[in-house]
Amino acid sequence: MADLVQLWNAPDEPLDCLYLVTHEGGGPLDGIVLPGADRKAIGHTTAELGVRGLEGEVLVTASPSRNFRRIACFGIGKAEEFTVHSLRKLLRRVLEQAGHNREYQIAVALPVAARDVAPDQARAVALGELALADYRFDRFRSRPDEATKVDAVHVVPLVGEDETGLGALVERARRLDALVRLARDLGNRPGNDLTPEAFATEVSAMFAGSAVRVTVMGAKELEKDGLRGILAVGRGSVQEPRMVRLEYRAKKPRAALVLVGKGVTFDAGGISLKPAVEMAEMKHDMAGAAAVVAAMRAVAEKLPPLKVVGLLPLVENLPSGSALKPGDIVTMVNGTTVEVDNTDAEGRLLLADAMAYAARFHPEIVVDLATLTSACKVALGSELAGMFANNDLLAQQLERLGHSTGDRVWRLPLLPEYRHLLRSEWADIKNSAGRWGSLPASAAFLARFVPEKARWAHLDIAGVAYVSRSHNGLPPGATGFGVRLLMALLDELAEKP
Ligand code: BES
Ligand code: MN
Ligand code: ZN
Repeated sequence: MADLVQLWNAPDEPLDCLYLVTHEGGGPLDGIVLPGADRKAIGHTTAELGVRGLEGEVLVTASPSRNFRRIACFGIGKAEEFTVHSLRKLLRRVLEQAGHNREYQIAVALPVAARDVAPDQARAVALGELALADYRFDRFRSRPDEATKVDAVHVVPLVGEDETGLGALVERARRLDALVRLARDLGNRPGNDLTPEAFATEVSAMFAGSAVRVTVMGAKELEKDGLRGILAVGRGSVQEPRMVRLEYRAKKPRAALVLVGKGVTFDAGGISLKPAVEMAEMKHDMAGAAAVVAAMRAVAEKLPPLKVVGLLPLVENLPSGSALKPGDIVTMVNGTTVEVDNTDAEGRLLLADAMAYAARFHPEIVVDLATLTSACKVALGSELAGMFANNDLLAQQLERLGHSTGDRVWRLPLLPEYRHLLRSEWADIKNSAGRWGSLPASAAFLARFVPEKARWAHLDIAGVAYVSRSHNGLPPGATGFGVRLLMALLDELAEKP
């Protein structure tokens, strides 16, 4: 299949629609490069249409030019209020409309800057959104739905933009999007297809022959290394747990980083069984692990001057006669004893083991991504991930990169005051607090397992890893949240650690 995003240069066949984006007080053709004849004819038509660029304005008409069948004008309101977030939402709306209208070949002209990021960055974000326009997860449909699929998005060049420069940006967007797609595909796969074993096998195959070394630990190895938190959660399922270790080391690494991703391939809650409503969504409980896999792919492609280790604890959390029970006490890899108050608070048991295990790689930075708590989803909805961090610089960096990449994060309090919520009568700590403060308590739990001296950020992606129905123009299902953020972090650390 040809690449979705292409540079527009007056193809022989007319395109289905030209999308123009205008701000208040601007002209629809300002700043874009079109052949003279098109320019004149289209300029005339849009003037007659009365394009004003008001926010929410959508005007569609037949095109006077042979190159397009239709012209659609989207207004964005005041230019100085237009943010990178509005840009992203706008593009998803454009693409949604194109899909609904059965337009297969479209052109998009975007002569707009976002007030909160550099022009290059805005261009990159836009191309990234466009490149994902045809994402569908249809591998389990006997007949894929082709009807509402855009085949090509032609990007109209801007004044001052040369073809090589734009071409390079498009290429970058394509590579990035291949990784977002990878994370989405993993996230959308059902539990019976993507078991811990299948996940591990696939990851091994994916990195074979690359600069990233893969080690898959099975029950025996987990036992040997004392990763009993992971084993405990996996005990209820006939699917054996795994831990996948992805290791990459440049010759002279400028920084050492460990990425940990929660990989519960299905979370029924265990003996503390979840209600049936929405339980099927818990196939997404491995979205953190998927983001880490994608980030490690980026590492394998770019070979940054860093040491990067990815850790993926993979389990299925089910109730059964052999399952972990409330009241059970587990001794974690670092010797901490945990009373399992609620078997549905399984994520922290996996992450705690993986993070304590990470100490052996002497990381300066640890970032974990996990669909950890419904409380985070309650607090922030589907707009931002919750972030807890023990270091202000790392937190600010992730906030900034989150904003520019669209994987937005909001910092929440990591305070010792919340530790008392985890007090146990029987062990060092218990794995679940009561209702009040359960979100900061989850982070307080994890904090006990962070390798000494490491700067650490925990991203709770429960609300953003997937959407139940189309939201902000995203298709239902996995979003691939975290991939762009991690890639931006890796890029920045490679440049200035
Ligand atoms: N995977 C869930 C969290 C979750 C819920 C993610 C909804 C996405 C959407 C996690 O394992 C879980 O069950 N957490 C419990 C913790 C509680 C028992 C302390 C929760 O949030 O209810
Ligand atoms: Mn759970
Ligand atoms: Zn879970």
